[in-house]
Amino acid sequence: MKYAFEDIKDTVVIVTGSGRGIGKATAQMFADHGAKVVVSDIDEGVCKEAAEEIGRSGAEVLPIVANITKREEVDAMMDKTVEKWGKIDTLVNNAGVTKDGLFLRMKPDQWNFAIDVNLNGTYHCTHAAVNVMRKAKKGSIINLSSLSRTGNPGQVNYSAAKAGVIGFTKALAKEIGSMGIRVNCIAPGFVETRLTDAIPDKLREEMIKSIPLRREGEPDDIAGPILFLASQLSSYVNGAIIDVNGGVY
Ligand SMILES: NC(=O)c1ccc[n+]([C@@H]2O[C@H](COP(=O)([O-])OP(=O)(O)OC[C@H]3O[C@@H](n4cnc5c(N)ncnc54)[C@H](O)[C@@H]3O)[C@@H](O)[C@H]2O)c1
Repeated sequence: MKYAFEDIKDTVVIVTGSGRGIGKATAQMFADHGAKVVVSDIDEGVCKEAAEEIGRSGAEVLPIVANITKREEVDAMMDKTVEKWGKIDTLVNNAGVTKDGLFLRMKPDQWNFAIDVNLNGTYHCTHAAVNVMRKAKKGSIINLSSLSRTGNPGQVNYSAAKAGVIGFTKALAKEIGSMGIRVNCIAPGFVETRLTDAIPDKLREEMIKSIPLRREGEPDDIAGPILFLASQLSSYVNGAIIDVNGGVY
């Protein structure tokens, strides 16, 4: 096993957007370490497929179809989780979207979509989960930002949302650390998933040349550090932003 974090066993973990990509790899890695995993996605097909695949090894998996921008769906997800397993130890706010375009042509819909899923969705899930975690006086919240938070042309909406996730993480860590709940953030660089599928080969080659490790990230490269933030190996890490990008800053 690549990462051995024994205390992950029997913890209850919700990973949003875990029907594919980084979220699916993360859900799989938690399951491989004996966690009980909520596989959640807006896309019913991939949600059920991923849950079935992860469950095949005997792991305890609960598929929940939910749109993180809809508070009532988020609340229902927390309720179903607590009903089944009685607690929530870790929330991974992974679901995210891009809707790229140059600023001068960016329509309000494009702007709102990126902010709504990446930032407002993170607020809804966290707000609902903290209400459960605070009763247990423990928990770990892991948010997904991005290297793009430093400003990517053609992504003002996404960059703004992912920079917002950093401020959210730092402020909340200060606010709820005293409740025993840690809040941290992973900021991936360039990772091979559906999100980066559309990048033309030539640009992809150029990007890889600019990465000191000379390769794109794989979803497992991000899942490992997420597991670290959920485990007691990171018990004194709070309000941290961990860049996982092969050395690009
Ligand atoms: N891939 C990268 O290079 C990269 C880089 C930096 C940050 N990230 C971040 O990592 C996270 C995962 O990205 P990925 O590359 O695995 O993307 P992905 O597109 O492969 O998977 C994202 C999943 O989120 C789901 N989703 C979208 N909107 C949702 C909603 N409203 N409610 C619930 N689920 C929803 C999608 O259906 C999809 O299954 C995102 O937050 C993304 O911004 C990715």
